[in-house]
Amino acid sequence: MSNFKVGYIGAGFIAQFHAKALKFVRNVDLAGVYSVKGAEELAAFARKSGVGDCKVHASIADLCNSVDAVCIFAPNFARIEIMQAIVDAKEAGAPLQGVIVEKPLGRTVAEGQKLVDLAREAGLPTAYFENQIHMKGIKAALAQLKPQQDSMGPLALARSAEEHAGPHEPWFWDPTRQGGGVLSDMGCHSIAVGWYVLTPLGKPMRFLEPVSVSAETALLKWGTPRGLKVLKEKMGVDYTKTPAEDFATGVVTFRNPETGQLVKAQFTNSWMYDKQGLRLLMDGLGQGYAFELNTLQSSLQIFIGDEAADAVADAETALEKSTSSRGLLTVEPNEADLYGYTDEIEDAVAAFKQGKDALLNFEYGLEITKLCQAAYMSAEKGRVIDLTDPAVQEELKTYTSLIAQGRGGEILQVRP
Ligand SMILES: NC(=O)c1ccc[n+]([C@@H]2O[C@H](COP(=O)([O-])OP(=O)(O)OC[C@H]3O[C@@H](n4cnc5c(N)ncnc54)[C@H](O)[C@@H]3O)[C@@H](O)[C@H]2O)c1
Repeated sequence: MSNFKVGYIGAGFIAQFHAKALKFVRNVDLAGVYSVKGAEELAAFARKSGVGDCKVHASIADLCNSVDAVCIFAPNFARIEIMQAIVDAKEAGAPLQGVIVEKPLGRTVAEGQKLVDLAREAGLPTAYFENQIHMKGIKAALAQLKPQQDSMGPLALARSAEEHAGPHEPWFWDPTRQGGGVLSDMGCHSIAVGWYVLTPLGKPMRFLEPVSVSAETALLKWGTPRGLKVLKEKMGVDYTKTPAEDFATGVVTFRNPETGQLVKAQFTNSWMYDKQGLRLLMDGLGQGYAFELNTLQSSLQIFIGDEAADAVADAETALEKSTSSRGLLTVEPNEADLYGYTDEIEDAVAAFKQGKDALLNFEYGLEITKLCQAAYMSAEKGRVIDLTDPAVQEELKTYTSLIAQGRGGEILQVRP
């Protein structure tokens, strides 16, 4: 049987990461790519590393006609037009078996809903890529603690954090194009993984019912005189005009519909984590048992002293969003596997081959977008958002946060 063929739309940071992940996935080829920039380089990497005879395509329609599934790995602001082009191609006869989209599903609930509607209209199975739920460490923790869940009850508190020193491309920093700041960019990960680990084993992804959200957003590093200057010089972004939050934290409360038990997922996200590089930190607490996962605690550390620093290699080969190339460095030799990229593509391909949605589909992604937007709403209004109130659900349908409107200066501190 021939390999399942995937095509990438976008050839930047995450497309390259997913291309590396494919080295560890059997029977899936990167067969094509369409991108504004970087397509030739990605295709060359794919061919050289043996993950597929990747062809560069001149249009989305052309790509869709040559692959079994397409992955939207382009910036958040281009989601709708890309999805529309995929649906048009499918309706014109492209033999697609599924569509994958990276997080966040949409910059607003309305955008996320549009993606859901387009996919359903075209009868396309979907996968929403939230890698942290597929992390082998998370799966192992839950499997290991199954006997404790069975005898002592499910986890009651989850704490999840994703932090680094700031994103790599200017569009991430522009709240009008990205959808906000770090809460839109990374809060979606932490809220999703928190919800997941709290869910009793064997229950569906959306079994626990979201009850309320409380959150705060702040600009702690990149709104200072030094932060503003560095951002302007390095990214060409002016946070005196359209600032976004570089720190967000909050709590989502969920209700178990069978027992009535309330459980809590606390999330913390920042673009001001000036340590070695990206850190994912999760823990879960049940009665008499717990787990903790920290991706900065690798079994491999290297040391480069000042004397030897002339010869440093690219720091990001050691760790995503690495901030330093000398001293005591943490190295993660297989980040694509560590962060769950290999497992999420395996899950999506297996589902698409059976004509089904992946474990996490677009509808699930929409729920995560809703929780993130409710967190923005909470931070703006300075109060807990009651998700059981039909009026709140109605308001969320058309809500765009002040920060995403480019009006972050009204609620965030900027000190030129
Ligand atoms: N799961 C994760 O941890 C993770 C990490 C990084 C990014 N992401 C997500 O992946 C997506 C892409 O992020 P990135 O970091 O790769 O961004 P990037 O800026 O590094 O790369 C984006 C790529 O898309 C191309 N592009 C831009 N507009 C396009 C269009 N209209 N049509 C086709 N291609 C277009 C660009 O030329 C570039 O190759 C974002 O939605 C982001 O949220 C997820």
